[in-house]
Amino acid sequence: SERPYVIDEMISAKSIAARIEELCKEITAEYRDTDKLIVVGLLRGSFVFIADLVRELNLPVEVDFLEASSYGNAMESSREVRIFKDLRGEIEGRDVLVVEDIVDTGHTLTHVLHLLKARNPRKIKTIALLDKPSRREADIAADWIGFSIPDEFVVGYGIDYAQRNRNLPFIGKVRFVEGS
Ligand code: PRP
Ligand code: MN
Ligand code: MG
Repeated sequence: SERPYVIDEMISAKSIAARIEELCKEITAEYRDTDKLIVVGLLRGSFVFIADLVRELNLPVEVDFLEASSYGNAMESSREVRIFKDLRGEIEGRDVLVVEDIVDTGHTLTHVLHLLKARNPRKIKTIALLDKPSRREADIAADWIGFSIPDEFVVGYGIDYAQRNRNLPFIGKVRFVEGS
C-alpha cells in the first residue's frame, strides 16, 4: 500500500494458542467417532491457523486446501469470490471441517460452503479464528469461533494487508499514520 501505517497488537500469540487449545478439545470430542475427517484450509489466509489447529487435534485427520479470494490487495471485499485452486481429493461421504482465518462480510465462506455441499459430504462444519459480526452481509456463522472482534482491519497470523504481514505471530490492527 502507499499510505504509511503501523500495526498495534490486538491478540497475542499466547492468547491465540490458548484459545486454539480450548477449541481443539471441543473439536476432538465432536469427531471422536469418525475416521472420515478432512480438514480443509481456505488459502491463503488460513495457512497459519490450520497448521496450529491440526497439531492440537487428537484425531486421525487428512488435510486439504482450497484457494479462494475476494479482497485481492484491497481493504474492502469485492463481494466476488474467485476460486484459484480446488481441493486435491474427493469429499463425498466425508466429514469436512472448513478452516477460515476470518469471517467478515461472510461472502467467502458462503460461496465455499455452497460449492462444497454440492459434492455431498457426510457432514460439513466450519471454524474461523476471527469473526467480525458487525460487518456481515451474508447470513452465515461459523460453528466454532476463536475471537469475536470489532470492525478493525486486522493482519497477522496468516491475514494480510496487500499480501503483507501474514507472517506476524500475533493479530494486530492496522493504523494509518501521517507520512513523514
Ligand atoms: C480474506 C480472509 C477470508 C475472507 C473473509 O481472504 O482470509 O478468507 O477474506 O472476508 P469475507 O467474509 O468478507 O468474505 P482474501 O480474499 O483476502 O484472500 P487471502 O486469504 O488469500 O488473503
Ligand atoms: Mn482468505
Ligand atoms: Mg487477503
